[in-house]
Amino acid sequence: MQGTEIVGRVARLGRHSDSPDHYTRTLFTPAHRAAAAEIAAWMGEAGMTVRTDPIGNVIGRYAGASADAKTLLMGSHFDSVRNGGKFDGVLGILVPIACVAELNARGERLRVAIEVAAFSDEEGARFQTSFLSSRALIGRFDPEVLERRDADGVSLAAAMREAGLDPAAAPRAALDPSRLAGYVELHIEQGPVLLDAGKPLGVVTSIASGIRYLVRVSGEAGHAGTVPMSRRRDALAAASEMVLAVEAQCAAVDSAVGTVGILKVKDGTGNVIPGEVEFTVDVRAPDDARRHAAEASVLREFERIAKRRGVSAEPARGPHDVKGVPCAPWLQDRLAQSIERRTGAAAARLPSGAGHDAMILAEVTDAGMLFVRCGAGGVSHNPAETVTAEDAGLAADVLLDFLRNF
Ligand code: GLV
Ligand code: MN
Ligand code: MN
Repeated sequence: MQGTEIVGRVARLGRHSDSPDHYTRTLFTPAHRAAAAEIAAWMGEAGMTVRTDPIGNVIGRYAGASADAKTLLMGSHFDSVRNGGKFDGVLGILVPIACVAELNARGERLRVAIEVAAFSDEEGARFQTSFLSSRALIGRFDPEVLERRDADGVSLAAAMREAGLDPAAAPRAALDPSRLAGYVELHIEQGPVLLDAGKPLGVVTSIASGIRYLVRVSGEAGHAGTVPMSRRRDALAAASEMVLAVEAQCAAVDSAVGTVGILKVKDGTGNVIPGEVEFTVDVRAPDDARRHAAEASVLREFERIAKRRGVSAEPARGPHDVKGVPCAPWLQDRLAQSIERRTGAAAARLPSGAGHDAMILAEVTDAGMLFVRCGAGGVSHNPAETVTAEDAGLAADVLLDFLRNF
């Protein structure tokens, strides 16, 4: 199958960006709507009937050989992080579309119907909502998120209306899981494991457990020139120590990782001792036990640092709190068999440190994932993120084999 066409489409979709300077596509912006329209057009060309659901997911359906066939759902997201990589999410939409196009061109119908879901919001960069649209699909839409506001004060409800969607209808995105045969997500690995192993593809064994917090540190604002060092309650100095505590405490738990990605000084001014700081914390580990251990020691350290420095630290759990998820063993085996049939080499198996919509779908159906090798040293959430046309083509070839044998 044509890998060059797939990566060409990745590049084309990448032009729909909120920023002229880099690739950022967040929920319900004009760029997001343009990407949705282009994806819908490609699904239509591939022979699918296309619908946009009440939360903005674009879903293409390719009927099975019989009317009572169950549905195999595939897909991934088409929103991005800020200044991200163009393959994250999008590859898992475009490869399945390419597979369906091939089946359609040959007039082949399978034992299962195929649906390809292009999820509108997985990263949640605009409204700090992660997995918003896959949660809606499994009937777990939380209407409270409609009041969340973006950096310009626009609510999610208003953004939905702007995109031609009715906020009140969002819960109706829920699908009936009893008609699903499973969920399979193809995704760029976003790490160096396959690259280092010299393997183009890999089967995902499990998806990491993760949680995010928003922490507010309050000290006392004061004059940068007059308050002696011993009398200060500097919120930023305290927060800085907390950032280092995240690093140290997560490093101390086997395979746990911790990141502070945003840190803001409220009313920050060069000659004012910072009085209030907010920062995010993202803690993950391969399983819940290790994630909870890392999380607990980070929170303990925050308390200790706050007490010693005379500031307060209030960690608020964000909406991102996901349990670690094992991929269904039978789907792992089917994907591995397809890799082995099409490449003649033993399939690599690896855990996912990144979160994916598959974690949410796994609550209602068996979920499996196929990883595609990440180039450029394995970087992701970075504009250098890349996949070769050859690997994209092989991914489509293996996925097609998996579908034909499903
Ligand atoms: C999704 O990109 C994640 O943060 O794991
Ligand atoms: Mn991502
Ligand atoms: Mn992703």
